[in-house]
Amino acid sequence: MDYQALFDAKEVVVGLLYLISAIFFVVGIKNLSKPKTAPRGNMLGAAGMFIAFVTAFLDFGIHIGPGVIEVTFDYWYILVAAIGLGAVIGVWSALGVKMTGMPQMVAIFNGFGGGASLLVAGVFYQFELETTSASELAIPMLVATVLSGLIGAVTFSGSLIAYGKLQGLKIIPGKPVSYKGDLAVKLILLVAALTLGIIMLLNPGMIGWYWFIVAAGIILGVLLVIGIGGADMPVVISLLNSYSGLAAAATGFVLGNIVLIIAGSLVGASGLILTMIMCKAMNRSLVNVLFGGFGGDSASSGESADSMYEGKITQTSSEEVAMVLESARRVVFVPGYGMAVARAATPVRQLSEALEKAGVEVAFGIHPVAGRMPGHMNVLLAEESIPYDKLLDLDSVNPTFKQTDVVIVIGANDVVNPSARDEHSPISGMPILDVDQAQTCVVIKRSLSPGFAGIPNPLFAKDNTLMLFGDGKKMMEELVKEYKEL
Ligand code: TAP
Repeated sequence: MDYQALFDAKEVVVGLLYLISAIFFVVGIKNLSKPKTAPRGNMLGAAGMFIAFVTAFLDFGIHIGPGVIEVTFDYWYILVAAIGLGAVIGVWSALGVKMTGMPQMVAIFNGFGGGASLLVAGVFYQFELETTSASELAIPMLVATVLSGLIGAVTFSGSLIAYGKLQGLKIIPGKPVSYKGDLAVKLILLVAALTLGIIMLLNPGMIGWYWFIVAAGIILGVLLVIGIGGADMPVVISLLNSYSGLAAAATGFVLGNIVLIIAGSLVGASGLILTMIMCKAMNRSLVNVLFGGFGGDSASSGESADSMYEGKITQTSSEEVAMVLESARRVVFVPGYGMAVARAATPVRQLSEALEKAGVEVAFGIHPVAGRMPGHMNVLLAEESIPYDKLLDLDSVNPTFKQTDVVIVIGANDVVNPSARDEHSPISGMPILDVDQAQTCVVIKRSLSPGFAGIPNPLFAKDNTLMLFGDGKKMMEELVKEYKEL
């Protein structure tokens, strides 16, 4: 038997299967870019991962050498148990998570991704040290190990802190923690970690250096994220997502595993692009998000809520709003985080259908950072089967507000805050939905409390604004009832 030919054939099959799984990842990500095709994108990604799993078993389980063909997979039962346990935890947490808790879940998964990358790279490095002489270890592999350890550790600890901030854990302050010389401390730690990396490259025989780099990375991750306010956590999570991809790609280089390199690079690049899109939608630079300390005492800047609202708030009732709607010809719904919290998408859809039935033109204005994660509002409205062509982005909906009779803002606050047009506002320059230009603006929320950015909203005090105070779902249900009874 030609064992060499068999070995080559196995390598070709494994390479091809890895390539197929990478194609699934690329096409999956492409599909994720549109709400309509996103579910298919998820399925393609999962299928790609399944192919990668099976291929890894083939790759490492079938040994072909001179005179031997063996199918052995050491510790396969541990791996199968770990994969099974991971799958159960993954399905359980994905089914149980509320839409508003999704960023936390992504954060924790990113963290585990970073942790897994640094452990795999470390164990492989240890294995190489035991089987090869240290001087024979390739420099690129050592550089990739250093990067995997450092980036993986920053991702791991930073993601856990991000999770704690968003989850409101008492031991982790939601506001940015700053102290004198904090930037210098972070820089010193980064330089120390990189110096340790260089020492490891010069003395590759000692695994200890690797774990010192990991320790420095873990402290750095904590310090980097603890200094950022809860309001910026979604951006930080997206950035950490990108880091987790880079750590995975670095581990791919360590192992010489092509699919890990491709998947990691895809996650790294797409996470970075998403981070930049979010920064643009808030008119903030990434540097400002990472080091600006936004979300601290921002409420103290600008006019106080009391002086802004005093004697200027017009409270309304669902009965009155239904009457205003009766004479409307164009109505735009603007959903925000509160619609998600109140689970009010169903009555929103019901009211939109009742309005359309009465010949009213209906649209939905969607801000790119409405809610707590990219596409949050699109997903909630898509679940209600609201046609995609009715969901208008900022550029499409803003020019139409002047010709809109009624805007119903449900649970949105920062994304409709006109103070963004004021150069002294903490959210100055953030693109907003110009709902104040409509003839009448109805705002549904429970109180005059600020949104995520923690600043008052002059929209509530405008002459053409009617405040409908109450839980989003309850108010929308009342509105549907009142409108249908007219
Ligand atoms: P927010 O400005 O956070 O305002 C949400 C409003 O919903 C609150 O003012 C709250 O007022 C109201 N609310 C809460 N529970 C409610 C309920 N049960 N019924 C009715 N209303 C309820 O939301 P937004 O306008 O969607 O803006 C999103 C914010 O998150 C922005 O600051 C954005 O920069 C930030 N952010 C988002 C992202 C992404 S990707 N989406 C990323 C980074 C940052 P009451 O308490 O008075 O009810």
